[in-house]
Amino acid sequence: MQLDTDFVRSQFPAFCEPSLEGQAFFENAGGSYTCGAVIDRLMRYYKQRKVQPYGPYEASRLAGAEMDEARSRLAAILGVATDEVSFGPSTTQNTYVLAQAFRQWMKEGDAIVVTDQDHEANSGPWRRLAEAGIEVREWRIDPESGLLRLEDLESLLDERVRLVCFPHCSNVVGAINPVVEITAAAHAAGAFVCVDGVSYAPHGLPDVGGMGPDIYLFSAYKTYGPHQGIMVIRRELGQLLPNQAHYFNADALYKRFTPAGPNHAQVAASAGMADYLDALAAHHGIEGEAGARGQGVHDLIRAREVALLQPVLDAVKDRNLVRLLGPAEAEARAPTVALVLNRPGGEAAAELAAHGIMAGGGDFYAQRPLGAMGVDLEKGVLRLSFVHYTSQAEVDKLLNVLDEIL
Ligand SMILES: Cc1ncc(COP(=O)(O)O)c(C=O)c1O
Repeated sequence: MQLDTDFVRSQFPAFCEPSLEGQAFFENAGGSYTCGAVIDRLMRYYKQRKVQPYGPYEASRLAGAEMDEARSRLAAILGVATDEVSFGPSTTQNTYVLAQAFRQWMKEGDAIVVTDQDHEANSGPWRRLAEAGIEVREWRIDPESGLLRLEDLESLLDERVRLVCFPHCSNVVGAINPVVEITAAAHAAGAFVCVDGVSYAPHGLPDVGGMGPDIYLFSAYKTYGPHQGIMVIRRELGQLLPNQAHYFNADALYKRFTPAGPNHAQVAASAGMADYLDALAAHHGIEGEAGARGQGVHDLIRAREVALLQPVLDAVKDRNLVRLLGPAEAEARAPTVALVLNRPGGEAAAELAAHGIMAGGGDFYAQRPLGAMGVDLEKGVLRLSFVHYTSQAEVDKLLNVLDEIL
C-alpha cells in the first residue's frame, strides 16, 4: 500500500493557501505545516471554550475534556500510559526543567553521558550539571560520518552513570540512531535514558513504550501540531525525580515537570494530531488499536519518505564542492539533509528562495555536531528537509534548482 499524497495534502490548509502557491517547502525540520484538524480544534477552543478548564460549567468541562483527550490519544499512539505524557512550552524548556530535577536528585560524583550529535536542547541543559559536581562524559561522533558508535558508549558506561542523553535523529546528521540498543546498553549499566525525538517524530510517531526509553521528547510544532513540547516520562523515573511543579500537584505524574500553567488551547488542539494520524489510518485501511494504527501510519510515512529521499541523496552525494552530512542511504536516515558548500548555507538558501524553494541555512543550533565534523560555523550548512506531504513534483523542482545553483 502506498501513501496517498493527494489525500495527505488535502489535510493541510497550507496547500490551498494562495500566498504559498508555487512555494515548495523544504524547511520542515524547523517547523512543519499544521494539519487542519489541529487548526480547527484551536479555533474552536478559542471561540467556544476559552475559559478556565475543569470547572462545573459546560464550556469549561469541554475544555478540560479536550486537554485530557490530547494526552490520552497521543499516549495510546506512543504506547505509554496517559499520565506519562505531559506538555511544556518547548522541548528546550522541557529539558531545562528535567535537568533541574536531575540536578536535585543526583549526587556529587555521579555522572551523565551527553553526545556531540545533539541539538543544543538535549545537550547544554545537561552539561550545566557539571556546575553541581556531576561528571559530564561526552559520547563523540565520528568526525567524518557524523555517526555515534555503540562501542564508544559502552566504554563510557559504569555504575556512576545515572543518565544517557542522545538524539533519536540529529537535525543535521539525519542518521536514525538505534534507540532500542542504546537504551538496553544504558539500562544494563543502571542508567536512565533521555531521547530527543524532535527530528524523528515528524517522520512517524514511534512506539516509545516498545522501544524502552525513560524519557522521550518531541516538539508538536514540527509534528503537524501547535507550538508545544511533548514529553514522555515513564512512571518509575517520573516518580523518582523531585517534583518541579507546585507542591500540591506532586501526585499527578503529568504535572510534575510542568512548573507553569500549561497552554490550555494548544494542549487541547494537540488532539488534532491524533485526528490527523487516525484519518491517515482510516483512509489507507489501517485498522486495530491506536498503537497499531499509529505504527501502520508510521511505516507508511517512512516508506514514502525513503522513496522520495533516495534520489535527493543520489543527486548530491558525489557532487564536487558539496559535502553531504550523514548517510547516503535513505533507509538509514530522515529526510533532513544538511549540505556543506563552499559558501554560506544561508546564501544558497536565499538563491533557492528566489526559485520558489523555502529552505534554510546556518547552524540550526547544532553547533556541536557541525563543529565536531569540521564545518565552518560561520558558513554553516544548507539544510533541505521534507516530510511525507512533500510531493514528487516538489522534489523534482528542488533537484532542478539544485542543479542550477550548486
Ligand atoms: C533535534 C532537535 N531537538 C530539539 C529542538 C528544540 O526544540 P524546541 O524548539 O521545541 O525547543 C530542535 C529544534 O529545532 C531540534 O531540531
